Amino acid sequence: MNRVDYLRISLIDRCNFRCQYCMPEGAELDYILRQELLTHEEIITLLEEVFIPLGFSKFRLTGGEPLLRPDIVDLVKDIASLTATEDLSMTTNGFLLSSLAENLYKAGLNRINISLDSLNPDTFKTIIGHKKADLWQQTWLGIQAAYKVGFNPLKLNVVVIPGVNESEIEALAELSIDKNWHIRFIEFMPIGNPELFSDLEEIRFAGRAWVPSEEIREKIRQKWGLVESNIKGNGPADVFKIPGAKGTLGFISQMSECFCDRCNRMRLSADGWLRPCLLNETGQIDLKTLLRNKIKTTEIKEKVAHLLNIKPEINYKQRDSGNDTGIYNRTMSQIGG
Ligand code: GTP
Ligand code: 5AD
Ligand code: SF4
Repeated sequence: MNRVDYLRISLIDRCNFRCQYCMPEGAELDYILRQELLTHEEIITLLEEVFIPLGFSKFRLTGGEPLLRPDIVDLVKDIASLTATEDLSMTTNGFLLSSLAENLYKAGLNRINISLDSLNPDTFKTIIGHKKADLWQQTWLGIQAAYKVGFNPLKLNVVVIPGVNESEIEALAELSIDKNWHIRFIEFMPIGNPELFSDLEEIRFAGRAWVPSEEIREKIRQKWGLVESNIKGNGPADVFKIPGAKGTLGFISQMSECFCDRCNRMRLSADGWLRPCLLNETGQIDLKTLLRNKIKTTEIKEKVAHLLNIKPEINYKQRDSGNDTGIYNRTMSQIGG
């Protein structure tokens, strides 16, 4: 069994983009009220008194869009300065990074993953659901700023959408050749509102919902060749590289090759729910209510320890096999990916 030592902390469920695969425009999302968000102090208390004593040492900040959280730089500073923190990373859409990258780096953020689904500003606008012209440029500036400041590794996440950005696979992969950039191709996961996604699959996604990683690899293999990389992360990606390239190519293939067996993570939502699995919320615990009801953190820790024990039985495969309730009511933006 894998050691579970990685916590993804969603800081806010709001986002300044409306990506089609995550929180499309028109989707009716009930945002978490400000007073329901875990506070800065509550997050630090949970880390110090619950998660770190249980062996967690790797933390990733997610959203929605984590850079929309006003206390983001201070939060990074406070989590980075906990002695148990071995790795502190963030997943962002990059739009606000050009002004924040340096402060985040100085505050102790180690790694950053930035979503970039297209190199074409018009396709980018379609995917992120905005009409304004300069959004791609601003995101690109954010990526450049993160690179300049020194984030290493710098990972770029591409959700491959059939018929939308599929034609850019080679151009995006090429970004890994000259710079130490790690491009990750992600199979779209139909999470959240099922009605919304059945529409997306049929209408917008050219008749199929996701592009299998092997099909993406084959395109790249045809053009440059592809070898397995000796740089392995401890996440869900299978890592390859174009021979001679400085960076790598990761493939996150939840739909075609389930990686639940090597899962090392849990997820904390912005309103304090701890869920054992991205795709299955069985057993989840409302940590915020426990904290606010003044339940002792030693007791909260016991509940989390129990969830850790049963976590191997709560996964996507099990949800599929139908022997589990397999509830998942939240969208990707509410869980943090
Ligand atoms: P690293 O620590 O850099 O390996 O990060 P990561 O790849 O886990 O994080 P990131 O936030 O960049 O996630 C990239 C994609 O992987 C997103 O689409 C996530 O939803 C997906 N992902 C991350 N962890 C899991 C997981 O445990 N299960 C599943 N099914 N998908 C995951
Ligand atoms: N399927 C796969 N990946 C997704 N992401 C968001 N929604 C989905 C989805 N439905 C990715 C984003 C971001 C990461 C946190 O999750 O691209 O990089
Ligand atoms: Fe872990 Fe669930 Fe993702 Fe499987 S689907 S890797 S159990 S979070």
